[in-house]
Amino acid sequence: MGKVRVKGAKNACLPIMAASLLANGEVALTEIPDLEDVRTMSRLLHILGAEVNHEHRSEKIWLDSRRLITFTAPYGPVRRMRASFLVTGPLLARMGRARISHPGGCAIGVRPIDLHLKGLVAMGASFTMGDGYIDVVAPKLNGADIYLDYPSVGATENILMAAVLASGTTRIENAAAEPEVADLANFLTSLGAKIHGAGSSLIIVEGVSSLHGAGPEKPYRVIPDRIEAGTFMAAAAVTGGDLLIENVIPSHLTAVNAKLKEVGAEVETVGEKALRVRARGRPKAVELKTFPYPGFPTDLQPQFMALLTLARGTSVIRETVFEKRFSHVEELVRMGGRIRIEGRSAIITGRQFLQGTVVRAADLRGGAGLILAGLAARGITEIRGVRHIRRGYSRLVGRLRTAGGRIFIFPD
Ligand code: UD1
Repeated sequence: MGKVRVKGAKNACLPIMAASLLANGEVALTEIPDLEDVRTMSRLLHILGAEVNHEHRSEKIWLDSRRLITFTAPYGPVRRMRASFLVTGPLLARMGRARISHPGGCAIGVRPIDLHLKGLVAMGASFTMGDGYIDVVAPKLNGADIYLDYPSVGATENILMAAVLASGTTRIENAAAEPEVADLANFLTSLGAKIHGAGSSLIIVEGVSSLHGAGPEKPYRVIPDRIEAGTFMAAAAVTGGDLLIENVIPSHLTAVNAKLKEVGAEVETVGEKALRVRARGRPKAVELKTFPYPGFPTDLQPQFMALLTLARGTSVIRETVFEKRFSHVEELVRMGGRIRIEGRSAIITGRQFLQGTVVRAADLRGGAGLILAGLAARGITEIRGVRHIRRGYSRLVGRLRTAGGRIFIFPD
């Protein structure tokens, strides 16, 4: 049996780091993995004037944002990582103004920011766009009733962060219920914020006048990464392996767990914080739809597609969260996968094996899907564009190797 330990959640670390801009004191965080996206957020906070100290080995970070020097998030970090936009809410709350380079589109489709802005406007902000920047101004933020047309994770987080220091009560309806939103709320609560309902579709925030720090004596521990856990679970299933995955919160993985059982893998909860995944033979074909939490996560769609290329029978994956998240399909087809795209659906006719070849990762999770396909394929798979994968997985290659994979890394 192979064994692997899951790291802290990237998608919790990034908003929590942005939220440290709200604290009137030093903030210490643990379980912060050494990822490109975390480095980009550190760089951005440093540009804004924060003191940032990331101890990579111990996965701790110390942030002190008491003396901010600018409200401008420039092109560099925002272009590298859309989640840079998460500093908008905190900057507005702290400085009354945020000037953010326009995040534009990205490899997985147009990702608008209309819901973020709509929420902030309801709280009293106004904005202008021009010269590639979005200028948001709010001399004063007031609590408001906000209904999100879609439960956007980022919009919920930006509005939540602006609301904690607004005057009065904010209600966010149709809020994103992702565990990472709940983790951000728990972090803010540990600094003195008053938040109810985070992790459900109705979040109520009572504004407070300031947030205190949470220094080294009381570091905040970020939740484990359910997407990384799901990637390892799919890796075990695709290779017909037996893998113990430690440091997970099993309730965050209910949809993933159910799908893996449907494809024929055995998933067993071991104690409170580990899962064991065992698989033998070819997976069964299934239908899979991505949805906001607690539905099946879009961030595991490519990994499960890799798995289903080897299934007995025909599977259908419907991507409902992002309109263009199939960049891995062409590459899987080059490895012998039989996949047809119809609108937002991928129809996958399983086959007995994939054949290794040279493929290119175009985005983070698509790249993870290609690694899984490569682990299962006959012959050697060479994956280019590994930098995309490094944005969200720390030492993935080494960890898959300890789990039994034959995988090596060469400079890009
Ligand atoms: C977050 C995650 C990302 C994940 C995604 C969906 C982080 C750092 N990233 O991204 O890994 O894939 O959630 O689970 O946490 N939308 C709008 N208007 C908006 C905002 C979003 O129409 O103002 C749409 C998007 O185009 C997309 C959908 O809503 O189709 C979901 O986006 P959202 O939940 O906002 O994802 P992110 O927060 O960007």
